Formats: sequence, C-alpha cells, structure tokens
Amino acid sequence: MPVETIKWDRGKIKLIDQTLLPNKFKHIYCDTVESIWEAIRNLRVRGAPAIGIAGALGVVVGMQDSKAKGYAQFKKRLEQVISYLSSSRPTAVNLFWALDRMRICCKKHSDLSINTIKSKLLNEAQKIIEEDKNICRNIGKNGARLIKDGDVILTHCNAGGLATADYGTALGVIFNANEQGKKIRVYADETRPLLQGARLTTWELMQAGIDVTLICDNMAGSLMKDGKINCVIVGADRIASNGDTANKIGTYSLAVLAKAHKIPFYVAAPISTFDMKIKSGKQIPIEQRSPEEITNLYGKRIAPKNINVYNPAFDVTPAKFISAIITENGVIKKPDRKKIKKIEN
Ligand code: MRU
Repeated sequence: MPVETIKWDRGKIKLIDQTLLPNKFKHIYCDTVESIWEAIRNLRVRGAPAIGIAGALGVVVGMQDSKAKGYAQFKKRLEQVISYLSSSRPTAVNLFWALDRMRICCKKHSDLSINTIKSKLLNEAQKIIEEDKNICRNIGKNGARLIKDGDVILTHCNAGGLATADYGTALGVIFNANEQGKKIRVYADETRPLLQGARLTTWELMQAGIDVTLICDNMAGSLMKDGKINCVIVGADRIASNGDTANKIGTYSLAVLAKAHKIPFYVAAPISTFDMKIKSGKQIPIEQRSPEEITNLYGKRIAPKNINVYNPAFDVTPAKFISAIITENGVIKKPDRKKIKKIEN
C-alpha cells in the first residue's frame, strides 16, 4: 500500500514526520530551507530517494522568495542553497544527484525571467517525484521475478514507501510479489540504533497486510542457520561503479552471513543511487552520527556517562557478497563494473 512520503503543498514541503511513527502519523510543513535541512538531518524524512526529493524541494523552498534582480544574482543564491542542503547528510548520493538536477535545470533556463525559472525548478522537483514513483514500481516488478511463492525474506532498515516518494525499493519488490499473489513472509531487522526496521518497515508491511515478524539485528544469523530465510533484500544509499554498496549499518554483517549460509543477498536501488564517479566503496563518505543515538533510548540515558561511542550510520558491502542488484532497468546478477556500466546508460 503506497504511502505518500513527501510532496509540494501550496508553497510548502509537506512530509510525514517519520521520527513519530508508528505511534503518531503526523505531517509537518517546511517552508524554509533551514527547516527542510533540519528534517533531513534529524531523519524526519530519510531513505536515499526520499532525501533526494527533499533536497530538490528544498531548493524550490530556498529560492521561492528570491528577489534577485537578474540571473547572476539568482544563480549565486541557488549555489548557496545547494551547498547548504548538501551539508545535511553525506552518504546517500541521491541527495547530490537531485541537487545537481536542480542546478542543471536552473542553468538550462538562464535566459528566462526569474519567476519562470522558479516555476521550472518546481516542475523539475515534481518530475523527480513522479519519476521515483515509476522507478520504484519497475524495481518492484523486476525484483519480484526473483521471489518464489512461499519465500521468507529478511530485510534491514526501511527501504519502503517512506524511504522514497511512495512505494519503496526493497519493499517495492516485496509489495509487487505480494500483489502478484505470492505468499511471502518477511522478517524485519529492528535496525539499531534508530529502529527504522522496528518502527517503519513493520508498520508499512502490516498496512499492506503482509506477514511480518520483527527481530533484533543479532537474531538474523541464527534464523539463517535454522534454514528459515530464503533471501535477503535491502536498499542502498550509494553504489560505487564496481558494485560496492553503502547501506544502513548492519547490512554488511547480513551479507557475510547470507554468503556463509548460501542465501541470495539482493540490493534494490534506482540508477540514481549509483555513483559512477567513484571506483569502489572505499570512497563512499560514511556519516557519523551523534553518540546520544546509542547512549540514550527514547530520551533516557542507558550507558555510563563519558563512554566512548562509535556510531556510523552506514557500512559498505563489497560487491562480491551481492548476488544481484535490482534496478528499474533490470537485474544485475553478480554485479561488476562492466555490467553496471551497461545497465546504467
Ligand atoms: O539513515 P536512513 O534511515 O536514511 O537509512 C536508510 C537506508 O539505509 C535505506 O536502506 C536506504 O536509504 C535505501 S532507501 C530506499
């Protein structure tokens, strides 16, 4: 069941505040570039494609009140807005991809009036949203071919409608298989420390009437050993040109476990998640987040004061652990540089 994560609503960005789910379903409105930056940074909107959309709409919000006298002044401010939004989160390449599209759109219309450029920017952001809806459905269709009736799937973090415009990548595959009438069951990792799996993935799957069971992250290995998992499907925040994939911390451990138990490990992601400028996962910037995300649980301190904390938001899974990458253009089995280049164009 698609959930509309983020959209343009009469001069403001309307989004579901994902930090409140599943206990509260509440929309917030961002009408300044600072407020959308805060929403991205604090995971009110999160997931690579959704962050890209938030960035594109952030440019619209940041430019809509511009009183620039001419293109040069407008462009200067646009670059400031883009650079500010770029600083919100570093890992998901979809953010930089979307901001780049907004920059190109502005340049392309440099000969038009400032008001017309503003409406072109809004059109571009809306186009990114509409494209994402189609892309995710195609990822779903392509990926569902890999899912058999009766399969039990393990997923990590949330790569669902909430992480995209409305349908999801990894969950898009699950939704599509379900729509085809395949009887599937899902295990959702809770996904420490911010519990995107426990809070968001379970909520989305339950809304769609899909059989889902919540587990702690450290239970995945024993389920695999007991033969209870047929495949793993996760999303991605950035895929290097050789197939190395950054995704939510804990993904790498799952990939290693899947390999050890001979279970297919799938990554579902749009082409916009590929970063063809980088050679390998070593070049992916990994976001380090605040220690309080680990030392505190719902506002209550659980760890000793002054404890050292290591809190990376993502890890990188080398391509050799990935059975296939599912994209809107098709499935790349045993991904490598050559196959990725071919599908990416
Ligand atoms: O920190 P988050 O919640 O933004 O991390 C999200 C993930 O790791 C997702 O798996 C990824 O962005 C893919 S979303 C389709």
